[in-house]
Amino acid sequence: MASAARSATRAFLRSTPATSSFRPAARSARFALPQGFRASARRGYASEAGEKKGGSGGIFALAFAVAGGAGAYFYLNGESTKGPFVPTKEDYQKVYDEIAYRLANETDYDDGSYGPVLVRLAWHASGTYDKETGTGGSNGATMRFAPESDHGANAGLKHARDFLEPVKAKFPWITYSDLWTLAGSAAIQELGGPVIPWRPGREDKDVAACTPDGRLPDASKDHRHIRDVFNRMGFDDREMVALIGAHALGRAHTDRSGFEGPWDFSPTVFSNEFFRLLVEEKWNQRKWNGPAQFTDKTTSTLMMLPTDIALVKDKGFKQHVERYAKDSDAFFKEFAEVYVKLLENGVPFTVKPEDRFVFKTSE
Ligand code: HEM
Repeated sequence: MASAARSATRAFLRSTPATSSFRPAARSARFALPQGFRASARRGYASEAGEKKGGSGGIFALAFAVAGGAGAYFYLNGESTKGPFVPTKEDYQKVYDEIAYRLANETDYDDGSYGPVLVRLAWHASGTYDKETGTGGSNGATMRFAPESDHGANAGLKHARDFLEPVKAKFPWITYSDLWTLAGSAAIQELGGPVIPWRPGREDKDVAACTPDGRLPDASKDHRHIRDVFNRMGFDDREMVALIGAHALGRAHTDRSGFEGPWDFSPTVFSNEFFRLLVEEKWNQRKWNGPAQFTDKTTSTLMMLPTDIALVKDKGFKQHVERYAKDSDAFFKEFAEVYVKLLENGVPFTVKPEDRFVFKTSE
């Protein structure tokens, strides 16, 4: 059933014109992944995987220290004489498949998918990068630890980290840093977005590598703040706009950021709707007892953050917003390139860029 829903979503996306101008009434927030199996129907899964993890954690840690390098790992489940396990592309595809499977089945969450929050986890793990000092970035997965996990910007990302724990338990050889970024790529693909080529090679670091608070953007600020933060990571105007187009996915939560609502009518489908609505809709300041945010004049059900509105107030940004609003293909292509860059900033890869893996999306 979940698979049929995904096929329907893809057929829908393929039949949608590049300028993508479908109407609210035609779209439901649960469109992409209608209710499939419930989490409770698969209760055996996590505990089964958990047992494996618990039984060999110490030896795994030792094996890691010996093997080092890009994902080299010893599989010691009764095969201790076999030597280091070096994962291949097929092994990473299995991780991808497991994430895709969980996305299709764990639908009792938000608008029916954990995909958006996985995209956000990969972005917040990577968005701490500082090109001057080479610190931060996806290499390290230091958001596992306080204080980074407690930084205000990371509120709610525990849902994404917990969602991936059974995957880590099933594939203990993958580092958290590789897993979180692979999950971000998988989520984009599974939600109907472009292919996000990915390569392994990140290593987990300890709590000492946590980045200071304040490296991630503050949604209440203006265009200068967006440029300050994203220039620090090494992005230009065009790249910043493309990246923020990920707000086509998911929603804001009052108990996380304080903001509320989705940006468009299909928060579980990757599209250029964020840009189209930004340009075509009239956005009024919302009157409510919460932080300053904007709401659409037509339905008053959508929202934009002050930083989103800054993208149409600033000339340098606006030209790209208008281009992406009209040209979905350009957005998909440029988003894919810049999301790869985001997820790779500061990682000392041994795998060459031309050898990145292209994962097969689920049927
Ligand atoms: C100026 C830059 C940005 C700001 C200020 C910003 C701010 C926010 C805020 C306040 C939320 C709501 C969080 C919540 O309450 O759950 C959010 C959600 C989200 N952001 Fe951003 N963001 C920015 C850039 C990005 C980028 C570059 C990406 C990815 C490439 C991204 C992906 C997402 C996604 C997918 C969600 C939805 C998460 C969910 O549904 O749980 N954002 N963002």
